[in-house]
Amino acid sequence: MSLAYLNGEFLPLAAARVPAMDRGFLFGDGVYEVIPVYSRRPFRLDEHLARLQKSLAGIRLDNPHTADEWKSLIGRVVAAAEWDDQSVYLQVTRGPMAARNHAFPKTVTPTVFAMTEPLVTPSPELRATGVAAVAAADFRWLRCDLKATSLLANCLLRQLAVDAGCAETVLLRDGFLTEGAASNIFVVKAGRLLAPPKNHLMLPGITYDVVLELAAAHGLPCEVRDVLAAEVTDADELWMTSSTKEVLAIVALDGRPVGSGKPGPVFARMYGWYQDFKQNVMRRG
Ligand code: PDD
Repeated sequence: MSLAYLNGEFLPLAAARVPAMDRGFLFGDGVYEVIPVYSRRPFRLDEHLARLQKSLAGIRLDNPHTADEWKSLIGRVVAAAEWDDQSVYLQVTRGPMAARNHAFPKTVTPTVFAMTEPLVTPSPELRATGVAAVAAADFRWLRCDLKATSLLANCLLRQLAVDAGCAETVLLRDGFLTEGAASNIFVVKAGRLLAPPKNHLMLPGITYDVVLELAAAHGLPCEVRDVLAAEVTDADELWMTSSTKEVLAIVALDGRPVGSGKPGPVFARMYGWYQDFKQNVMRRG
């Protein structure tokens, strides 16, 4: 049983309770973060907290904590857990309301929640084989840049992958790649890395940034631009990235092999760079 944080209190996760009139429960009116923790050190914490701030501003909710307060409460939850590698979850909702009403309450008392779970990154076997994905039309709203808790569309889209025995759903909107149901997607073609630009149609992934930084640092040619659906189906390599999956090769799309049907050589390089980077950052503290 791990320790959770709820509205100023530290308590066992199973004891954490939120009122049924919470706007997070009734409307999905809230935002969240998922932060990987390696050897009890949060990875890219400042960046995750900056994105949380942007998501809060995007839904017009004041940040209930300073960055130092967030760091201290995260530190306490992480220290109390039994695992060294963790996935810390933060959520802020617009809190409870007296009567059901879409409009914001006059006085908002946000619900602030944090918990931690063991971090389960892809196994060496999965890394070696890669995963299969399906493609689907991205029918989400037009503020996918906000990490909002209203994830019904993402859940329905991810389930399409699960129904097909696959790991992820690659989302296409109006003939272009956006992202995955819960990841960012990269294409490799003729030795070049292609990534959709950050805009309102995708979440600005923290792992996405790390991958682009590593590509630049190691001289891997890279194009951040609109990526056509046809370039996805025609890719030499396809990757998904997220805080919990890190970088993972997609080797089949809608039942057809991507490139050779195995994790490609560019993936192997990026995976190595990513692991080295992680080790270095964590050693430096
Ligand atoms: N999801 N796009 C979507 C829609 C996501 O849900 C996520 C991550 C990402 C990748 O972002 P990052 O690299 O910052 O993890 C992109 C998290 C892990 C989740 O909802 O569990």
